[in-house]
Amino acid sequence: MSSRRKFVRRALGGLLGVSAFPSVFASAPPSPKGGPAVVSTWKNVAANSKAWQVVAGGGSALDAVEQGVMVAESDPKDLSVGYGGRPDRDGRVTLDACVMEHSGNCGAVCFLEDIEHPVSVARKVMEHTPHVMLAGSGAQRFALEQGFEKKDLLTENARKAWKEWKKKEKYQPIINIENHDTIGMLAIDQSGQMAGACTTSGLAFKINGRVGDSPIIGAGLYLDGEVGGAVATGLGEAVMKSCGSFLIVELMRQGWSPEAACREALSRIVKKQKGYRSFQVGFLALRADGEGGAYSLHSGFSYMLNHTGEGGNQASKSWL
Ligand code: GLY
Repeated sequence: MSSRRKFVRRALGGLLGVSAFPSVFASAPPSPKGGPAVVSTWKNVAANSKAWQVVAGGGSALDAVEQGVMVAESDPKDLSVGYGGRPDRDGRVTLDACVMEHSGNCGAVCFLEDIEHPVSVARKVMEHTPHVMLAGSGAQRFALEQGFEKKDLLTENARKAWKEWKKKEKYQPIINIENHDTIGMLAIDQSGQMAGACTTSGLAFKINGRVGDSPIIGAGLYLDGEVGGAVATGLGEAVMKSCGSFLIVELMRQGWSPEAACREALSRIVKKQKGYRSFQVGFLALRADGEGGAYSLHSGFSYMLNHTGEGGNQASKSWL
């Protein structure tokens, strides 16, 4: 390697805070798949299929991710999203969600109660206010003004789980269970526009008022339509400390593959956060050319990547 090339590699490595580039850095030519494409965290076939139908039918990526994750928000069996999500330690279901679109516009809500579709409220924040995030009672008031209706989101199952938890009141994240349904979704539509969404009821039995990574732009979701997008699932605190999704998009901008970028974001968590063996984080990325990739701390994280309408669920590679 010429000394000039060595210098450029070292300089870029220093800039990114990494000691060496993986081989994918120099070699990965963009795959020419492009859109339409939909990726989503975990095995939520119905949500992914809904989003796919929207982009396959010529709809926008933003409509696709909104309508896709709404499926999870309405599903009472989904224990970490919307209706049926497990409550905080006071028995209240509080919701976090955000959306981000191709050009960098974004909207978010956090600590929102009694509204079934926080993702749609987040979109309204993006489209109808000069702000990015509304929280708590203010977010709820805004939602009601926008025509959303109140709904009690605490199902009988979730109430029972909370009552059971209250017997010991011990907080302990359970890998792949505590957060396993937090849904993050990224899509490319037929015109090549990208959008992303992330929505959750957050960590079960959290302290009242806790907000996780899912509504935080740059943590639970980040997207730049010229480069790609990334979403996160798992322990939000770990993701927020590392600005995981922003980092992944910036690494892809530098030429890293989606999978290598997700792995590098995890390596920052492993390096800095001593407790990493006791919690799960999964990252999922979609590059603007349609190439997807994921990486998680522990095995057990899976995702759906759909380029054809028949996208299957696939296991992510894991650090541990
Ligand atoms: N990743 C979801 C949360 O921690 O709230």
